[in-house]
Amino acid sequence: VTAAAPADSSVELVDVDESNWRLVAAVRPRPEQERFVAATTYYLCLCHYGGVWHPLAACVGDEVVGYVQWGVDDDGSHWIGGLVVDAAHQGRGLGRQVVERLIERMREAAGAAGLALSYEPDNVPARTLYASLGFVETGERDGDEVVARLLPA
Ligand SMILES: CC(C)(COP(=O)(O)OP(=O)(O)OC[C@H]1O[C@@H](n2cnc3c(N)ncnc32)[C@H](O)[C@@H]1OP(=O)(O)O)[C@@H](O)C(=O)NCCC(=O)NCCS
Repeated sequence: VTAAAPADSSVELVDVDESNWRLVAAVRPRPEQERFVAATTYYLCLCHYGGVWHPLAACVGDEVVGYVQWGVDDDGSHWIGGLVVDAAHQGRGLGRQVVERLIERMREAAGAAGLALSYEPDNVPARTLYASLGFVETGERDGDEVVARLLPA
């Protein structure tokens, strides 16, 4: 991970494999954001051993700028988790693109069950981003986190 991506960068979601896992493991939020997410190394282990989540690298060209994972709940709802944009790349629309791309990918498969995610209630950037994409808080909790869902129209 080197130079900052330009403002008009287009994000692609790419499988994590032997060619890029080190770059995914190097993705870091800002220090003050570490309480909102686990380390990407932890997420990669969760995906590998946990049998629920699937990892994706967020790439701009050859560069890994972030991480996200997805999973399917018993009720068919498709969950987005583990979103991190590397500190060096935040604030230029990449996080929004990551979530938009994942919504596009999962919307059809999720059907009526819709999409879901959760976040710490005081995570203002995440909460604002998800709300702007149509996620609505349902009153459900997942541990300390609030759950928001995006249901089909
Ligand atoms: C949340 C996160 C992924 C956003 O990534 P990003 O690339 O910086 O976000 P973007 O530049 O695409 O901004 C998207 C939207 O997020 C919101 N946002 C981003 N930073 C914000 C801030 N400091 N305050 C309020 N809203 C903010 C805005 O709604 C913004 O949309 P806008 O630019 O149209 O106003 C990033 O801050 C991050 O990695 N945080 C640490 C990990 C984390 O908290 N992940 C979420 C766990 S649920």
